[in-house]
Amino acid sequence: MQHFLDIHKTSTSDLRAIIDDARAVKEARAGRPKGMADDEQPLSGHMVALIFEKPSTRTRVSFDVGVRQMGGQTMVLSGSEMQLGHGETIADTARVLSRYVDMIMIRTFEENTLMEMAEHATVPVINGLTNRSHPCQIMADVLTFEEHRGPIKGKHVVWLGDGNNVCASFLHAAGQFGFDLTFAGPETLDPEAEAVGFARDQGVRIKLERDATKAVKGADLVVTDTWLSMHDPQSARERRHNQLRPYQVNDALMAHAKSDALFMHCLPAHRNEEATSQVMDGPNSVIFDEAENRLHAQKAIMRWCLNHTS
Ligand code: CP
Repeated sequence: MQHFLDIHKTSTSDLRAIIDDARAVKEARAGRPKGMADDEQPLSGHMVALIFEKPSTRTRVSFDVGVRQMGGQTMVLSGSEMQLGHGETIADTARVLSRYVDMIMIRTFEENTLMEMAEHATVPVINGLTNRSHPCQIMADVLTFEEHRGPIKGKHVVWLGDGNNVCASFLHAAGQFGFDLTFAGPETLDPEAEAVGFARDQGVRIKLERDATKAVKGADLVVTDTWLSMHDPQSARERRHNQLRPYQVNDALMAHAKSDALFMHCLPAHRNEEATSQVMDGPNSVIFDEAENRLHAQKAIMRWCLNHTS
């Protein structure tokens, strides 16, 4: 059994195996109703706990459906309704849950909660987002890019706006999958130095750019996210909007990227803030493929956690 905690903590060969397996898993059930079981049932008899300390649509539904398609059962738990939110140590919660379930997916605020859960659980733990990273999302994004444009190695990705947790996972992926990444945004919202350093240490080019137009030149993929993350205070909203307006992804900005540059957004989006509806619904947008691929990528991640990757 193995945990899936972060892209930079997983070997490049395992990451590649997960992406390839995700494609195979997706193709194997193409055209089937969503509620129909996969031919392979690696989670048969398995119970999976899905813990959410923050809201979710995609992560919750895609993990739930994915587990069921692979023959398992799920239990969705809200952090605030568990003893976890009322003083029981994370270590004790991890030990107790490991007696009841075969796998734990957790979406939480602090990375320490995830790490402590993984340290003390005796079943695989999957990172469903923390304030610092969102690896399942970026595995789905790599899968999506490669379905549309072939290998992501050597490509140029441009991230616009807030250098948040999703951006950090994109930086980890740049290092592990071998693509260059330019971040464009104000200096105060630069991605965390550790993620930038990790990617640079793997030999890929990471640029921090203040000018959105300059940044997107030659981009193969343009990515953005909401200007305020779930863990940011609402009081920061007006300042963020003023800071980030120059980094909105609109048709004028996309015109400076390669003509076949894809557009991604992990969703949920605030339409016509970080990206216009024209771009989101335009011909280069793959935002709903990304959302669908959460299902396939996470199924491959769960298979890998149980050593079932083909
Ligand atoms: N992209 C993403 O993680 O979506 P949810 O917050 O809806 O799970």
